[in-house]
Parts: sequence; structure tokens; C-alpha cells
Amino acid sequence: MNEIKISRNEFKTGERRKIVLPDGREIVVFYLGADRFFVFDNKCPHLGCDISKYGVIIKEELICQCHFSHFSIYTGEPKKGASKKPIKTYKVRIENEDVIISLI
Ligand code: FES
Repeated sequence: MNEIKISRNEFKTGERRKIVLPDGREIVVFYLGADRFFVFDNKCPHLGCDISKYGVIIKEELICQCHFSHFSIYTGEPKKGASKKPIKTYKVRIENEDVIISLI
């Protein structure tokens, strides 16, 4: 499976939601309003905290509040804090009312 489709109407602005893929991988979707969806691995690359519980987006950074690692919401690169490793990001495209997440 290379992509999954979810309905944008299911999301409220400011929501974050964990999705378990059929292969057991977990991703997390953040919805910031309009067409702004950001998707990451749900596991922090620092010590593995659950981003759907501990992650917040402030401006252009995803922050894992377990130990305050900051990552770029666009590339996943670490910006400051504990993690020296990036978090995986997933490409998103919007088609009408569908949000299509590329899993590659
Ligand atoms: S587990 Fe996320 S910052 Fe440590």
C-alpha cells in the first residue's frame, strides 16, 4: 500500500489523530485548518514517545513534549532539543474532500 485516503471533513482545526496502518505502523495527522495537513511517524525518534499524545505544532515546528525535541514540520529535521535524528514526514495532497497521504 503506497497511500491512504481519509476524508478532510472528519477533521476539526487543531486536531491531531493517530492512524494505525494495516502493516502495524503508526502515523499521526495534524490538521491546522484550510488545506494544512501534516503527517509524521507517530513515534518520536528520540526515545519513542507517542506523538499523538505528546506532539504539538507551534509555528513551523513539531515539538515532542516528552523531552522537548523540535522538528521542522516540512522536512522533519531536528531544529533543537534532545533528538539529533529527524522524524519521518509523509507527503499529503488534497483532492476535493479527500486527503491522500503518501506512505513512501
Ligand atoms: S521521546 Fe520525544 S523528545 Fe524524547
